[in-house]
Amino acid sequence: MASDVPLMSASMKEPSNIDRRYFLIQSTAAVGTVGAGFAVWPFLSYWSPSEKAKAMGAAVKIDLSKLQPGEMLTPVVAWRGKPVFIIRRTEAMLNSIKETSLTLADPNSENPEMQPDFAVNPWRSSNPEYAVLLGLCTHLGCSPKLVSVGNFEDASGGFFCPCHGSKFDLAGRVVAGVPAPTNMEVPPYRFESDTVIVIG
Ligand code: FES
Repeated sequence: MASDVPLMSASMKEPSNIDRRYFLIQSTAAVGTVGAGFAVWPFLSYWSPSEKAKAMGAAVKIDLSKLQPGEMLTPVVAWRGKPVFIIRRTEAMLNSIKETSLTLADPNSENPEMQPDFAVNPWRSSNPEYAVLLGLCTHLGCSPKLVSVGNFEDASGGFFCPCHGSKFDLAGRVVAGVPAPTNMEVPPYRFESDTVIVIG
């Protein structure tokens, strides 16, 4: 029910040209992986409001009970017309975030427009096990590809944007010196139970 879900944080930015551009270039948006760790993504069910309601910004409730460690939820969920990446991070993935040797542009998530307050932490999430990120590169809005641990710079996992080469770690933190100016955006969300998440 709409009354049961939190309103979007006032600190979150409105849809931008970058977000809208996603639709114009989503031919590049196929989410891919490199490495056996992500070789199989199960089809996972979720339930949500009508397409019209979703487009208007209704919250989306998702069942994560079948999402296995190391997997990204597929099909990718859409919220407000934007893809949302949900990844159940393994211990190795969390270590790659904690012990990264990447030079990051905003390692402490100091840009308040890119995440709700609850995600200002090393994991950029309310539960370290789950990454919840808008699947849009913050350069020009392409959809980055998930790259597994061992197949990314410094053996850490992360996201690679094929459009102009931007890179992000598994918390969506942008590597310094790439075209993308900010970390990937964390949408507002909450866990309704251990395995049910409400986005929006
Ligand atoms: Fe991702 Fe340009 S859109 S690097």
